[in-house]
Order: sequence, then structure tokens, then C-alpha cells
Amino acid sequence: TGHITLDRGFMNTASCFSSITYLDGDKGILNYRGYSIEDLAANCSFVEVSYLILHGELPNYQELEHFRHDMNRFALLHEDMIHFFDHFPPNASPMSILSTTINSLHNFYPEMTAKTDPYGGISVTTARLLAKVRTIAAFSYKKSNGYPLVYPSHKLNYCENFLNMMFDRPNIPYEIKPEVTAALNKLLILHADHEQNCSTSTVRLVGSAQVNLYASISAGVSALWGPLHGGANQAVIEMLEEIHESGDDYNYYIEKAKDKNDPFRLAGFGHRVYKTFDPRARIIKEACHEMLASMNVHDPLLDIAFELEERVLRDDYFISRNLYPNVDFYSGIIYRAMGIPTDMFTVMFALGRLPGWIAQWTEMHADPNTKIGRPRQIYTGYKQRAFVPMYER
Ligand code: CMC
Repeated sequence: TGHITLDRGFMNTASCFSSITYLDGDKGILNYRGYSIEDLAANCSFVEVSYLILHGELPNYQELEHFRHDMNRFALLHEDMIHFFDHFPPNASPMSILSTTINSLHNFYPEMTAKTDPYGGISVTTARLLAKVRTIAAFSYKKSNGYPLVYPSHKLNYCENFLNMMFDRPNIPYEIKPEVTAALNKLLILHADHEQNCSTSTVRLVGSAQVNLYASISAGVSALWGPLHGGANQAVIEMLEEIHESGDDYNYYIEKAKDKNDPFRLAGFGHRVYKTFDPRARIIKEACHEMLASMNVHDPLLDIAFELEERVLRDDYFISRNLYPNVDFYSGIIYRAMGIPTDMFTVMFALGRLPGWIAQWTEMHADPNTKIGRPRQIYTGYKQRAFVPMYER
């Protein structure tokens, strides 16, 4: 079997060639298909960026219209799927609902089992998934509150549709504000891909066994759920709330995070690849300011986040380990201002990450050299023992 090298957590092992996302962790650079996230977040819609990630090029007007049209065409869930939501307990985790429901899409749309969708290739498949996952996310929220479902509307664009399905009610109309839509677009764009992170590697690993796309993405959602990964955005807000309730006792939390004997970590700080500011965090921090100001919202948690960041960036423990705020540190404050409940934050991350997962899955299948993922191990157990019969144990 040759020589096996131990690489815990895959710190230094590439699993594939990829031309989707370029990341320089020392300089804090993140580009999708060669375009900087700063340019994309300032100029594009999430649907446009999804197209870019998937096809490698920015869409022209017709291509974008076509993609948008497909997004509306596929926005409804099969009516039988709607009953799923009735049978989860009222406080079920939306991430569990999301993962389960995405997996079950395969039963309703089994035609897309292998590598391509016979109804028009990967672009249609992506539109289908992007549109349906958005509907699933909003329906799970409505059901958890006991509100009637609001169906997607062909008159609204991607982000408007999501906000409307989440917040509109027959008795209380929801006003879609352009600044909220703009902030949502930006957040989704900034989450759209991040090369071989834990959930994306999961999608690839599961997909490498040639299982269908829905099952692969469902596995990715499960990986994202973890507090060390996408679940950190929820953990951040819970931590900021705790700090607030403690009477702003920053030191207690900072010292706790530094204590080797305490597993607690400051949520929203540190990254496997970035050894400087996470470029996404920079943009989100700025957007946070803008959005809260334009909505006339004052959130005390934002002040706490600023203060915590400042203290962390002055502290030797964090400096010596290159621990900076990551994408999850400020995103939750924007979601809160939009009215999205804390336990839905990671669902929002999943919505954003979908085009990346699909593009990575597609890239893997398009590569003729792809092999089933199968890491090795360094065995530390007994090599061979004499069998012990039951009466001698
Ligand atoms: N608070 C306190 N100490 C930390 C933190 C933190 N948030 N992050 C890392 N460290 C310490 C860690 O204890 C270790 O110290 P030492 O060298 O003394 O043992 C050192 O920094 C290196 O950490 P590591 O765990 O070896 O680094 P990693 O690359 O394996 O983990 C991470 C990366 C993101 C899992 C980790 O930084 C972490 O747990 N952060 C908090 C959770 C979080 O914010 N996750 C979101 C990541 S970004 C986007 C996403 O994936 O969702």
C-alpha cells in the first residue's frame, strides 16, 4: 500500500483540482472564478453570482433572464412535500428539517439521479435546487410559528421572494425594503463558495460514491450545522447575548476562551486558512453598519461585537495565533435586523453556499480522473490476537 502520511483534519492535503474559488489565506483574498468578492458583492445579485460560480462566466442579460425564469419555474414544492413540515415537533431544528427535506427531493424528482438533469443540464438543476431550498427554508419557518404558508411569487426576484415567503401574512402585509434585499443579496454572495471547506468536502466525498446530488447536498447541510463550521453564526449571537446578560463581562469570556482546560472558544474567531482578516468579515461588518443605520435599528449586540473584536485584536493570545473575526462574526447581526430567528442563521448560510456545493459536485463529476474518496489511516490497535471463547472472557 506504500507509505501513508498522517494529516489530521487535512491541514495540508489537496483532494482535487478546482477552478472555482481562489483563496489566499495570508493576504485575505477571496475570488470566485477570478473575480474578487469585493467587486461581486458591490455589483451583482446572488443569482448572477450563482450563475458565475456554476458556469465559470458572468451571465449576459439573456442568460441571466433565463436563469431567473427557471428559478421561478421550479420554486414550488410538490404539494405532498408540504405535509412533511406538519410532522416535525414544533421546536425542531430548521437545519435538521432542511437536510431531511433536501434528501427527500430525490424521491419527488428522481430523474436527476446521476450526473446531469435530462431537463436541460446542470443550470436547470441548480435553479431547481436554489429555488426549492429557498421555499423549504421559508416553509419550515412558517410551520414552526404555526403561520399559513406563503407561496413563491413569479413577480418577485430571488431575495424578495424569500423575504416575502418568510414574513408576509394574510393579515399583516410585509413591505419588502430595498436595503434589506440588498443586504441579503450581499450576504448570500459572500457565502456562495469557499473551496474545500468541511461541508463542501463532504458533498464531494459523498458524491464521489456516485450518489445523487440531493443526497450529497443533504450531507453538506449536516456538516454545515456544526458550531465549528456554519453553526458558528448562531453561536456568535448566543455568545453576544450571554455577554450582554452578564453585564458586559468581556474579560470573563476572553479568559475562558484562552483557558486550555476549558473547551469554550470565541465563536466567530479563527479560521483554518485565513491567518489575517477574513475578507468576507470586512465586507459584512461594513454592511452591518449601513443596514442598521438605514433601518434605524440600534442593536446593543453590535456594540458588544465591536468591543469584543477590539479587545481580541489587542490580546497576545489571539495575536500570536492569528485569530481574526471570520465570516460568521457579523452576519448574525444583519440576520437579526432582518427579523430572521437565530436558529435559522445556519439555514441562511446553507442557502448561500448552495451554488458552491453544486458547482463543486459538478466539477468533480466532470473530471475523468475523479476517484471515490477513501482516506487511509494509521492503525494503532492490536494486529492479531488469539480468539477468546465466551466462557474465558
Ligand atoms: N477561540 C479561542 N481559541 C481559538 C479559537 C477561538 N475561536 N480558534 C482557534 N483557537 C486556538 C486553538 O485553541 C489553538 O490554540 P493552541 O495552538 O494553543 O492549541 C489555535 O488557536 C489554533 O486553532 P485550531 O483549532 O488548531 O485551528 P483549526 O484550523 O483546526 O480550527 C476553527 C479553525 C475555525 C475551527 C477554529 O478557529 C474555531 O473553532 N473557531 C470558532 C468557531 C468558528 O468561528 N467557526 C467558523 C469558521 S469560519 C466559516 C465557517 O466555516 O463557517
